[in-house]
Amino acid sequence: MAYKINEELIEKIKDTVNIVDLVSRYVNLKPAGSNYVGLCPFHQEKTPSFTVSESKNLFHCFGCGEGGDLISFVMKIENLSFIESIKLLADMYNIPIESYDNSYSQETKKEKERLYEINREAALFYIYNLRRNPKALKYLKERNIGQDTMIKFGLGYASNSWNELYDYLKNKGYEDGDIEKVGLISKRKDNTGYYDKFRNRIMFPIVDNKNRIIGFGGRILDVGKPKYLNSPDTIIFEKGKNLYGINLVHKMPNREKIILVEGYMDVISLFAYGINYSVASLGTAFTQDQAKLLKRYSKNIYICYDSDNAGIKATLKALDILEREDVEPKVIILPKDFDPDDFIKEKGLDEFKKLEENALSSIDYRIYILKKKYNLNKVEEKIRFTKEAAKLLRALKSPIEKDVYIDKISKETNIAREAIGKEVFGNSYKPNTTIYKDKYISGKNRHNKSEISPVKAVLEPAHLKAEKNLLKLMIQNIDYYKRIKNHLSREDFLNYECKILVNIIYDEYENNPYLKELDINLILGKLKNEENIDYEIIDEITNIHIVAEDIYKFIEDSINTVKYFKLKFERKIVANKIKELDLKKQKNKGDVEELKRLCLKLTELDKELKTHL
Ligand code: GTP
Ligand code: MN
Repeated sequence: MAYKINEELIEKIKDTVNIVDLVSRYVNLKPAGSNYVGLCPFHQEKTPSFTVSESKNLFHCFGCGEGGDLISFVMKIENLSFIESIKLLADMYNIPIESYDNSYSQETKKEKERLYEINREAALFYIYNLRRNPKALKYLKERNIGQDTMIKFGLGYASNSWNELYDYLKNKGYEDGDIEKVGLISKRKDNTGYYDKFRNRIMFPIVDNKNRIIGFGGRILDVGKPKYLNSPDTIIFEKGKNLYGINLVHKMPNREKIILVEGYMDVISLFAYGINYSVASLGTAFTQDQAKLLKRYSKNIYICYDSDNAGIKATLKALDILEREDVEPKVIILPKDFDPDDFIKEKGLDEFKKLEENALSSIDYRIYILKKKYNLNKVEEKIRFTKEAAKLLRALKSPIEKDVYIDKISKETNIAREAIGKEVFGNSYKPNTTIYKDKYISGKNRHNKSEISPVKAVLEPAHLKAEKNLLKLMIQNIDYYKRIKNHLSREDFLNYECKILVNIIYDEYENNPYLKELDINLILGKLKNEENIDYEIIDEITNIHIVAEDIYKFIEDSINTVKYFKLKFERKIVANKIKELDLKKQKNKGDVEELKRLCLKLTELDKELKTHL
């Protein structure tokens, strides 16, 4: 039974609560213009980029991109769900929640409390049972589970009896109806009473992030079916919305990472070896709700499922689900026939940590799986692989990423970059979009540090596009100009036409500090003084219409794109020069010095390029 929140209540909260007042309880805010600013509570920073707008009732951090309304602020800072945040806010600001909420009666509340209590009693009973059952203890010992771990997870044992638990709970005064509702007993077929559902099983209490026992998993001691038995879904236990182990993760929120595994024993085993940040979905496929729950605790989610076919399928599905929540999941790959529990037991913590370090990004994993499907030594299969891989790359948002993977796949398959590029970007992928004009680059504007020299060269389409977008934005709005100028100098624009435009734009704003935007006709007028302009590019810039959900994020991405491709471009030129010099049969002293310098430069560029990935 879902707890329904009344729209009216949400409205009331938004009306009553002042976001500046709310945020001030957590962050030291100072007025700045019409807004308030402070140090962002969601990332480390020394200068404030966390902004609160009282009038819009919104917050936004320009440093880390977090933003939203007062409810999302509470969700984020208190690590609560939407509903919990509403409740907390109502509580903080004395808004009577009951008068708004019709589905949540006192009665259901009391009923739930009774069910939690029954589960708690049952768990204690199972723990007590385990202590006096040598066979169950021996089983756990054989599985390398020590006292500490047993206690931490509240492990217990359900005896091989049909009524022990039932009798115990009845003795404590609980009613048949409630015990049945929580899924611990069932009615006998002949209607003569009830029987215990969990028998001869190691019992794993499932605890939610508020430390309530919401259900149980039970593993059979001997061989038998089913191997695992779980409590049914009840009013206090929705399997698809909970995760085994979340209670332990909750004790330390903002984890650097969380590992998602398949089974109870995986969570427990990892924990026993010191990995206290894993959770398992509860015998069902990983759900969107579980992804939502997980991402409240960490943005770095590692999937570590079995490496068999079912595991691969489940991994691909979990990747999709997590990506829908805007987290960037990774995949830890286990050797064949291992689950995390087997692996850490056999190979130890260090080996597991190594696998963790080598975890693949989502796209890397998808390509890795794809590669296993095809024999790349056969031309036909190679082509099919490339087409499939291109499909995956098309889904990537960042042009930088696309570029990196086009490179990678081209190297792996020996298929030309351009051919893969066409698959990814469509036939519009023209590597010859832009020519560096000799005159300009060799002229007085040539940047000293840069290795870009008078060669005819070509810009990647994504690179040119980013330059054009940034120019358009700067023309439109001085705020955009300021932001872009902080990160990109005139020399960072490489396309001939873009370079000329950036000079005009920067000059205009610098010379006329009161301008809020630039007049496109004025700019076009100034272009008349320039030679060799390709007006097609200018037209494209004038006609760009930028639509972005978060314009500052868009700007940041475009800046990064320009920086990245510029580095790549420089690298290519340096590498070519090295090749040229290297081929020279007779090198003089100057050549050798130059070669040394270039190699150093190459290393520097590689280092810098890495930071852009
Ligand atoms: P061990 O054999 O104890 O090491 O378990 P495992 O975790 O290696 O088992 P497996 O990979 O088969 O199962 C992973 C998870 O799937 C378990 O933790 C259960 O949640 C669930 N599961 C496995 N078998 C069953 C079953 O028979 N019924 C149900 N409902 N769930 C199961
Ligand atoms: Mn196992």
